[in-house]
Amino acid sequence: MTGRTGVLAGIGAWLPPDLVTNADLADRLDTSDEWIRRRTGIRQRHAVPAGMAASDLAVEACSRALKSAEVSQVDAVVLTTSTPDRPLPATAPAVAARLGLGTVPAFDVSAVCSGFLYGLAVASGLVAAGTADRVLLVATEVYSSIVDPLDRSTAVIFGDGAAAAVLRAGSADEPGALGPVVLGSDGEFGDLIRIPAGGSRQRVPLEPGDEYFRMAGSEVFRHAVNRMSEACRQAVTAAGWQLADVERLAAHQANARILGALGDELGLPPGHVLSNIDTVGNTGSASVPLLLTQAAADGRVEPGQRVLLTAFGGGLAWGATTLTWPAVPALGPSEHPSRRD
Ligand code: ACO
Repeated sequence: MTGRTGVLAGIGAWLPPDLVTNADLADRLDTSDEWIRRRTGIRQRHAVPAGMAASDLAVEACSRALKSAEVSQVDAVVLTTSTPDRPLPATAPAVAARLGLGTVPAFDVSAVCSGFLYGLAVASGLVAAGTADRVLLVATEVYSSIVDPLDRSTAVIFGDGAAAAVLRAGSADEPGALGPVVLGSDGEFGDLIRIPAGGSRQRVPLEPGDEYFRMAGSEVFRHAVNRMSEACRQAVTAAGWQLADVERLAAHQANARILGALGDELGLPPGHVLSNIDTVGNTGSASVPLLLTQAAADGRVEPGQRVLLTAFGGGLAWGATTLTWPAVPALGPSEHPSRRD
């Protein structure tokens, strides 16, 4: 491949400080720590305090990604979320303004849990087209604002969080260069993950709870493994790799059992399959970049390793891509970005 490619130049993440343990959930729902751990692999998740919105998390994550990339300016901001601050306008312009990025183009991408993979395709497309030399991509989610607190099948899964990456223009043979991004969708199964009310189809709730997130979990589970494994195979082939070349898999953290099944399906040793679901739960589109940030910060991903990224979620929508991990500092939630110049 020749020409300009998006290259990962910086990465950072942020988690709101409040913790919700399985025991906290078992206090108010008909569930147990044992069930949640055994069926999902989750021990705890983070949640925003009252009044904190997606843009607030995004600003924190972006500050860390910009510091990681050692830049203070970008040419575009792409934001992925299922929980925007408001239905309108997009959340990205507010984030760009709060970061002092001036009047750069800033817009949201909506692809539920696959948002970061779709965002990578958009951001690297802006770079490849010559529209931008540097793009800030941020995935930010406040699922606690849309999950039904009384629905034990979803309330135990989701957590809040944000993560961001800076992509710069570079060439395909550099560490950090994104491989071809494989994307797909199947709207025939759109009702498996949805919020019934709040859109132009049904503006207000007709039934109690229509304003909340709904998921047909066990049906979605099967699609998740099939679609992600297929996308992974396609992305690996498109990159000119073999599956045996993959040293780390950074997959959407929806369920530890999905991660196990996906790793088995792809023939990857368990140690190659990254996970942080036990401490953060499913953080929607923030899941993959949050995982990468934490894994790079604690040495589970090292520069030079071949990493396969994949995600799956509502839409249905899915994606996968590859990159060789670059030597960039990953700034996790506990890092405090100093003021940028
Ligand atoms: N505690 C105790 N019991 C529970 C709980 C709970 N928290 N939740 C469900 N159950 C019960 C159900 O009521 C059911 O009981 P029944 O047999 O008496 O009817 C039983 O457990 C089994 O229910 P399932 O839904 O079949 O449970 P499953 O083992 O499939 O786990 C889960 C549910 C965790 C949701 C799983 O299906 C899953 O992870 N699905 C995939 C999620 C995913 O990949 N989503 C896509 C990304 S997310 C996005 O796009 C926003």
